[in-house]
Amino acid sequence: MSYTSFDNIGLVKVLSFFQTHDSEYLSGEDLSDVLKISRVAVWKHIKKIKTLGYKIESKQKLGYRLISDTEKLLPWEITTDLKTKIIGKRVHYFEEIDSTQNFAQQIAADKKENGAIIVAEKQTAGRGRLDRKWTSPKGGISFSIIIHPKFDVSSSTLIPITCAVALSKSIKSILGIETQVKWPNDITMNGKKVAGILVDASFQANNIEYLILGIGINFDIDVKKIEKKLSKTPNFYGINSLRKKDDKTPPKLLLKDFLLQLERNLLQLDKGKKTKIIKEWTKRAEGIGKKITINTSNGNISGVLQGIDKDGALKLKTRNEIKKIFVGDVILSRI
Ligand code: BTN
Repeated sequence: MSYTSFDNIGLVKVLSFFQTHDSEYLSGEDLSDVLKISRVAVWKHIKKIKTLGYKIESKQKLGYRLISDTEKLLPWEITTDLKTKIIGKRVHYFEEIDSTQNFAQQIAADKKENGAIIVAEKQTAGRGRLDRKWTSPKGGISFSIIIHPKFDVSSSTLIPITCAVALSKSIKSILGIETQVKWPNDITMNGKKVAGILVDASFQANNIEYLILGIGINFDIDVKKIEKKLSKTPNFYGINSLRKKDDKTPPKLLLKDFLLQLERNLLQLDKGKKTKIIKEWTKRAEGIGKKITINTSNGNISGVLQGIDKDGALKLKTRNEIKKIFVGDVILSRI
């Protein structure tokens, strides 16, 4: 099952009516009169709305009442009251897909998809960095964002950094949790991964045609179950789940705030304010000033982590020099 933000579907009309008549009982007859659809259509929409995770109570003689919203990241849940100008205004939602990143690649070159997001409840072939598999667990948030940037190619290496800063800020403002960033693209909480970022890009001559940011967030997942599954995978250093046990904050709040933060940060990059973003990243970075090892395709390199340079490359002080590393996995010593 898939939905988009630009299809005009009847069930959204019924749902919006419920949402704007908070907890009131509404009869099938009234809904049919006001929305100008048949009573059978009202009934069918209500049935469908319930399968999407909304709780609707029905009482004889009184009618129907919306008790609670869904946690699914359906297009209309994201676009309602979204404060961005471009990012997230267009949404493609999938109950199940191979990878949101793959779907994004098929549509990304189309001008109208600038800012579009692709969200999935479940991915059967999610992709991680360095061609690794990405498991999209139940309770996670998995999505891709298509961007047609104005800035030049030299800024593109800072995109994952910009994205990580935006996500870390949103986690703090929506869930009240301090997170750290781990080069190049991870967000961590108490040293364990809570989110990963993947960037696919298409270049034309010296311009960026489009970027696809793929983000996987461990929003409210079963840590033990996933750790068991992933413990033998390369560079596994443990995972954490963000939402605390009794916290009812819906995932859409985090997603919407992140889209806004990201749009603001990308605008800064657009204006050439690289230093500000690098500073914000460094403030949150794990392991600065500590001895670390980097696992690269040419083997391991150890040294003291200095930070990142103006292009997002990692600066490592080895015995003889300051090395710049562009691709690799950071291994932090926990001693
Ligand atoms: C990493 O840490 O290796 C990056 C993980 C990125 C996962 C996300 S989930 C949504 C999007 N679709 C994918 O197939 N991958 C990214």
